[in-house]
Formats: sequence, structure tokens, C-alpha cells
Amino acid sequence: MEFVKLQIEEEIAIVTIDRPKSMNALNNQVYEEIIAHLEAIQANDQVKVVILTGAGEKAFAAGADIAQMVHQDAMEGRHLGGLCHRSAYLLENMRQVTIAAVNGYALGGGCELTLACDIRVAAENARFALPEVGLGIIPGGGGTQRLSRIIGVGRAKEMIFTCDQIDAQEAYRMGLANHVVPQAELMDYCKAMARKIASKASYAVSVAKAAVNTSENVDLPSGCAREQDLLGLLFATHDKKEGMEAFLERRKPNFTDF
Ligand code: HXC
Repeated sequence: MEFVKLQIEEEIAIVTIDRPKSMNALNNQVYEEIIAHLEAIQANDQVKVVILTGAGEKAFAAGADIAQMVHQDAMEGRHLGGLCHRSAYLLENMRQVTIAAVNGYALGGGCELTLACDIRVAAENARFALPEVGLGIIPGGGGTQRLSRIIGVGRAKEMIFTCDQIDAQEAYRMGLANHVVPQAELMDYCKAMARKIASKASYAVSVAKAAVNTSENVDLPSGCAREQDLLGLLFATHDKKEGMEAFLERRKPNFTDF
């Protein structure tokens, strides 16, 4: 693919947005390539964790492509919104864990992609912002919905209304970034985390992801009822038997379910 590269290293898929001339700006083709890669990864039993990042040292992605959007009408804008949502939905709901390795500017649609990832790790030079109202639009890839769930409504509104850029340390303080690391260590840090997650029972991890996602969408009793049913389901798996027997036999488990 032209703008989004896929590299598979054992159980880790690295998806890299690579459009250096425009700070990895996201046009329709970039979103379509992200979607195609994520759909292929979903079907790949080998891959347990996805790391999404941007090429170069300046930008994760500087947002949707303004040079494209400036010419677009309402229906084209709506179509673009659909591509943003499809990419975000996949990152958020695919069975693999998704980590955003935020290597620089994550603005607009770029920021929204990070919000849809399960975990965000920021390089020290990362900058997060939703600058859309400065362009006469609104965050259209889930930014008005997911940001407030992560950092709270008051802070989300301030970020969206002011368009202010949030640096890595501030993002960490707000809970927007899970960790801040030197840029040179970003990918190694994310890969180490990915390997740790991949060493657990992968089907259990994917069920835990679905259960936590449920907590965002339903009331507490409904979420706990779903958790209880999922727990029961996991008691029927090979990996539950293997994980517990391995503990009792003081050996490393050999997990196979996914
Ligand atoms: C198109 C972009 C771009 C973008 C940067 N470029 N961001 N092109 N769309 N979002 C291009 C510039 O035009 C320039 O091209 C080249 O990348 C380098 O950018 P500079 O501005 O010269 O670099 P710098 O001064 O370092 O500033 C970096 C920056 C700035 C802070 C990231 O470029 C910037 O503010 N970009 C726009 C950010 C933004 O508003 N994003 C939100 C978009 S709306 P040339 O050819 O001149 O070298 C959005 C909506 C999502 O994302 C949801 C809608 C459905």
C-alpha cells in the first residue's frame, strides 16, 4: 500500500502512517489503507497486539488532509467521517490490543485515531490537539465522544473549544497518555509492552477488552452481568485449564486460544 505500511514481527503488527510530505495527513486513501490493514490483522491468528504509529520524528498524523477537505461538499465530508469512524471502530473493537505509539503531532483525525486505541504511549515531543473548530468543522472521527470519556467532559470541551495543543507531560497528567518516553525509546517501549500482553492468554485478553469496552456503553449492573457471563465462558477454555495447571505445576503456561 502507498501510505500505510504493515510490518509483522511475530505476534506484533506495526501499522505505520507514512505520508511525510504532509505530516502524515489523513486523506481518504490513507483511511482506506488503515482499514484494510486492520481488517487483515483481525483475521490473522498470529497477531495479538497492534502498534499504530507515524513515520518520521515529527508527526503521528497532523489530522485529516486539509488540502482534500477544502474542496469537499457535505456528502463527501460525511463519507470522510465514515472512514474516520470505521478506522476508530476497528482499533477500539478488534480482538487484538491496540497501542498508539505517538511519535509527534497527533492532531485532529490523528488525535482521534489515538483516542480509539486501547493504550496511548507518547514520545516526549508528542502534541495532542483537536483543532477542527479553527477550520470551521468539528472533530468528526469520534473526538467529541471519546475524548470526554478519557479525560472528562470539562477538559475535553476546553481542548475542543480552544484548539490548544497539549504536550506529552500534560497529556500524561490528564490521563490521555499512559506513559511518556524519550522518542528514541518509543517503539522499543511499545514493543516490550506488546510482548508482555501477547504472553498472556490472548483470548482472555480479547474478552477483557470487550468487557472494559462494555463499561463505556452500559450501566453498571448490565456491565457486571456481562462480565459474569464472560467469566463463565472463559472457564470453558483450554487456556483457563492450562493457565491454572501451569501455576500449580510451577511451569510456564502454553496458551493457544485466540
Ligand atoms: C494537509 C498538511 C496538514 C494537514 C500539515 N500539512 N498538516 N496538509 N492536511 N492536516 C502539510 C503542510 O501544508 C505543509 O505542506 C507540510 O505538511 C508541513 O507542514 P508545516 O505547517 O509547514 O509544518 P510546521 O510549521 O512544522 O507545522 C506542523 C503542524 C501544522 C503544527 C502539524 O502543519 C498544522 O497545524 N497542521 C494542520 C493541523 C490541523 O489543523 N489538523 C486538523 C485537520 S481537521 P507544504 O506543501 O506547504 O510543505 C481534522 C478533521 C478530522 O483532522 C475529522 C474530519 C472528518
